[in-house]
Amino acid sequence: MTSKRPIVKAVVPVAGLGTRFLPATKATPKEMLPVVDKPAIQYVVEEAGAAGITDLLFVTGRNKDALENHFDRVPNLERTLLDKGALALHDELMRIAELAHIHYVRQGNPLGLGHAVSMARPHVGDSPFVVMLGDDLIDAKTPILPSMIEAFHNHGGSILCLMEVPDEDIHLYGCAAVEPTDNPSVVRVTGLIEKPNADEAPSNLAVIGRYLLQPQVFDILDAQEPGRGGEIQLTDALAKLAKDPSIAGGVHAVVFKGRRYDTGDKLSYLKSVVQIALDRDDVGPDLRSWLTKYLASGQ
Ligand code: UTP
Repeated sequence: MTSKRPIVKAVVPVAGLGTRFLPATKATPKEMLPVVDKPAIQYVVEEAGAAGITDLLFVTGRNKDALENHFDRVPNLERTLLDKGALALHDELMRIAELAHIHYVRQGNPLGLGHAVSMARPHVGDSPFVVMLGDDLIDAKTPILPSMIEAFHNHGGSILCLMEVPDEDIHLYGCAAVEPTDNPSVVRVTGLIEKPNADEAPSNLAVIGRYLLQPQVFDILDAQEPGRGGEIQLTDALAKLAKDPSIAGGVHAVVFKGRRYDTGDKLSYLKSVVQIALDRDDVGPDLRSWLTKYLASGQ
């Protein structure tokens, strides 16, 4: 069944411990690590706004105060910038505080991504909603949410975002079994498995951190036992939705071919900083010429 209802709510889980990025993440949330001059999470919130999302629920945990402060007003600083005539910076701070209606719920105990999403039930209610992982950065030049929303309007059910990864990396992701549809950019998801070994992976299509879900997922998550790594896995709940389309219209996916970074992973984070900086008009040209000389020097 298809629906033209607009998708306005997103859930952004940010309660993970960020252990892959210690010690930087001991006291600073990984989502607050800067990518050039904006914290990684701001790119996610801007991506949501660009796709028409007006209401964001952060699922937070301990040590995430900096994140809440980032999206709040700072009257003293705003006044100081105005007094100094720094109008552009002042306007930028105001813009950040007005990006969306932002709400917070605490996860308490980080029992897994599925558990984090289940915390959103009272806020989301009974409408389809988006989940955006706070450490997944999709480059604004290659947005994916609009294609996912279009696929939702055409196919109904739930929509995932998949990305081809090398066979040797599939054990790091949820992996999808798929079959084609009439639309070359949309596949039907027939099965999902969390972090499979290469020899048990049904494809090299990895699930990345954007989901458009039906609210029936909450019933499944509430009843779900811990899965891989002892965590309540979102992938396991999605596998049930995919296997039985009578629950909530089945699962489709769009295959993403743009630029995406896992800012909770050191190497991927570094790539995000370099690539996004190179694209910018202010720092890009100088960085490019410095990098070119540096690499040519063989140091
Ligand atoms: P990750 O596994 O990438 O995050 O979870 P992590 O646990 O912080 O990472 P490492 O392995 O320790 O470095 C994917 C997303 O799910 C959120 C994380 O914040 C991240 O956005 N998450 C994960 C939660 O909100 N709660 C959880 O219990 C687990």
